[in-house]
Amino acid sequence: MSILSKHTILEKSPTLLLVSSLLVVTVGGIVEIAPLFYLENTIEDVEGMRPYSPLELAGRDVYIREGCYVCHSQMIRPMRDEVERYGHYSLAAESKYDHPHQWGSKRTGPDLARVGGRYSDAWHVDHFTDPQSVVPESVMPKYAFLLDRKIDGEHIDDLLSTHRFVGVPYTDEMIASARADFRVQADPEGDWDGLVERYPGAVVSNFDGQDDLTEMDALIAYMQMLGTLVDFSTFTPDASR
Ligand code: HEC
Repeated sequence: MSILSKHTILEKSPTLLLVSSLLVVTVGGIVEIAPLFYLENTIEDVEGMRPYSPLELAGRDVYIREGCYVCHSQMIRPMRDEVERYGHYSLAAESKYDHPHQWGSKRTGPDLARVGGRYSDAWHVDHFTDPQSVVPESVMPKYAFLLDRKIDGEHIDDLLSTHRFVGVPYTDEMIASARADFRVQADPEGDWDGLVERYPGAVVSNFDGQDDLTEMDALIAYMQMLGTLVDFSTFTPDASR
């Protein structure tokens, strides 16, 4: 019996065929994917990347809780139309501190990977409060309630520790100063030198314009840093990778 005619055994038994196909796909998948977890150069290190500041990290949690990823992606693909609309395509390193990443798979609204600095804080407040007031045809829901949800960063050091546990390089100093950093990022009158030293490029602002620190502050702090860490005027991709 030639090897090909042995194949008829598989073809005649649906169960055996199914199990064998699964086996082949599994082996193929492991061979393709497993090395990526061990190769040193899967993620090219890029200058400028740093862990999220405590307030940005809290804003990111609001983003996840509200399901913004259902309508927004954070991944600019390396295609001309995308790059012309949104800016430089996303690098793997830009989401290396994201647990979980927010690439998304649906774009009811635009990609947000480089939205940082594109609008003023006040625009974001207006837009989140009532999107249709600034973009009349928008189908984005209102998030005005974020203005009333006060936050004090009580557990923010635990949140940083948790991210350190999964591999984000937060230092002991960052965790010890997390609560102070959390508050001072929304307080331009405060002493934020240490914050900006620990998190270069962090935007310090009273994001929502209110005295109280709210989820709106955190979410806008997160929006305003998205895609701003890597300086693409000096970045050159390493083509050998
Ligand atoms: C039902 C889908 C939907 C959801 C959910 C949604 N958005 Fe949007 N978003 C849109 C659409 C559509 C637009 C484009 C029109 C506009 O600007 O309002 C948009 C625009 C935006 C913009 C302006 C982007 C730009 O480049 O002009 C930002 C920022 C934004 N959304 C953030 C968020 C955040 C943060 C959340 C979660 C709190 C969220 N969106 C939830 C649909 C959505």
